[in-house]
Amino acid sequence: PPPVPQRIEEKRRAALLGGGQARIDAQHKRGKLTARERILLLLDPDSFDEYDMFVEHRCTDFGMDSSKNKYPGDSVVTGRGRINGRLAYVFSQDFTVFGGSLSGAHAQKICKIMDQAAMVGAPVIGLNDSGGARIQEGVESLAGYADIFLRNVLCSGVIPQISLIMGPCAGGAVYSPALTDFTFMVKDTSYLFITGPDVVKSVTNEDVTQEQLGGAKTHTAVSGVAHRAFENDIDALLNLREFFNYLPLSNRDPAPVCECHDPSDRLVPELDTIVPSESTKAYDMLDIIHSIVDEREFFEIMPTYARNIVVGFARMNGRTVGIVGNQPKVASGCLDINSSVKGARFVRFCDAFNIPLITFVDVPGFLPGTAQEYGGIIRHGAKLLFAFAEATVPKITVITRKAYGGAYDVMSSKHLRGDVNYAWPTAEVAVMGAKGAVQIIFRGKEANAEEEYVDKFANPFPAAMRGFVDDIIQPSTTRTRICHDLDVLASKSQSMLLHQLPGTGG
Ligand code: COA
Repeated sequence: PPPVPQRIEEKRRAALLGGGQARIDAQHKRGKLTARERILLLLDPDSFDEYDMFVEHRCTDFGMDSSKNKYPGDSVVTGRGRINGRLAYVFSQDFTVFGGSLSGAHAQKICKIMDQAAMVGAPVIGLNDSGGARIQEGVESLAGYADIFLRNVLCSGVIPQISLIMGPCAGGAVYSPALTDFTFMVKDTSYLFITGPDVVKSVTNEDVTQEQLGGAKTHTAVSGVAHRAFENDIDALLNLREFFNYLPLSNRDPAPVCECHDPSDRLVPELDTIVPSESTKAYDMLDIIHSIVDEREFFEIMPTYARNIVVGFARMNGRTVGIVGNQPKVASGCLDINSSVKGARFVRFCDAFNIPLITFVDVPGFLPGTAQEYGGIIRHGAKLLFAFAEATVPKITVITRKAYGGAYDVMSSKHLRGDVNYAWPTAEVAVMGAKGAVQIIFRGKEANAEEEYVDKFANPFPAAMRGFVDDIIQPSTTRTRICHDLDVLASKSQSMLLHQLPGTGG
């Protein structure tokens, strides 16, 4: 055999070529970048340190032990690098080697970087592009998936985990992305499903295309499996870099603080008139969010799913915050099953990773009806309540208009340990809207009852008089107030002990 230095060089060269030029060309032809090109775009220049370039699969069946079936590094590229100077671990599945399928060795490489990421406290980013379990390896590859799933679970709440789906992801493979904190997809070239269209046809007799079954549109608008979709590989990777900047490296790390050129005492005069005087008229909660956060920059999570609630990341005076807002423009901003689950998961992520929560409330209540009740709105709605109540990160709440019924309690109310709760002058904190209330109390018989109800309840005073909101503020001052509160709350420390609970009940 040739001397060792030469063999090292040859293996390295082979590893860099993956499945070979013809398959690289095929990958490009589909509008997809290769595993290595993706890593280079994701990470800062020259920051990638690769692990396990010499690892090979160990399968001997089906002629797999012949040298032409061995690729140094096998079907995944792994390592660590920097994103805007901050450490991240990454794996990138290589579709040019056995369709990116997961062998025992492939899984072992992923587990190695996950273990190290958890140990040093840095996020793991997975770039998924794989035909699933390596069929030739049978149960060995299933074991490999389970090894990854277990680590996904043990790392949950410890380090941020992000999946970007950039090709097929089918069968058992889907459960790793599903266990991570955020799943992003690339439009037209990625899909996620438990079984493909052929199996669907044979079991349920449905005719469905790959795209309809598990494409980006399906998962960002219908199923809620994915959190965002991007135009192509480049767009997705650049957005991922931007997204990464919002996240702390681990649960031991404070959320990052960026240099801020947007004055924290900036007044926002347009907010004084943004809420329409008729309480049934809609406005866009996103307008409020954009005008309050630094530089109008808001990284929305699940923008096309359960649009009656808005969640996402922004900065206030340079500090990452998680924003939750009811959206009056969609279904009057009511809470339903999907919006509750969407909100709950986001709140729990923020709580796990030291990200303060700012909640904008305009909620007429929970959506009534058999569809919601049969679907379990009670248990799903409870998740959002649970998430806000258990969260010990700084919590600031602004009631812009309606805060009705149980939904008032749920939306980061004072009673669930909100740290600072504000009402705008347009706030109405009540059990329900005037029409419904009067119908129930007076059966419509009292002539001036509705007016009386509005006078009494459709304003911020009943809540403010009891200390359930800390202040009624001029909307234009909201940014200033929140920035100031976040400064004070930066040193907040709170435990779950019952005897420390404040008695805020009526
Ligand atoms: N195990 C081993 N090899 C696999 C594989 C797997 N799970 N999936 C794909 N490959 C190989 C193919 O044999 C092919 O090899 P070749 O280039 O030497 O011919 C190569 O990867 C590319 O696959 P191909 O089928 O040509 O690509 P495609 O884009 O037309 O289709 C898939 C991609 C993923 C839809 C298709 O490969 C597929 O259905 N794979 C099996 C998916 C599955 O059921 N996996 C088990 C679920 S856990």
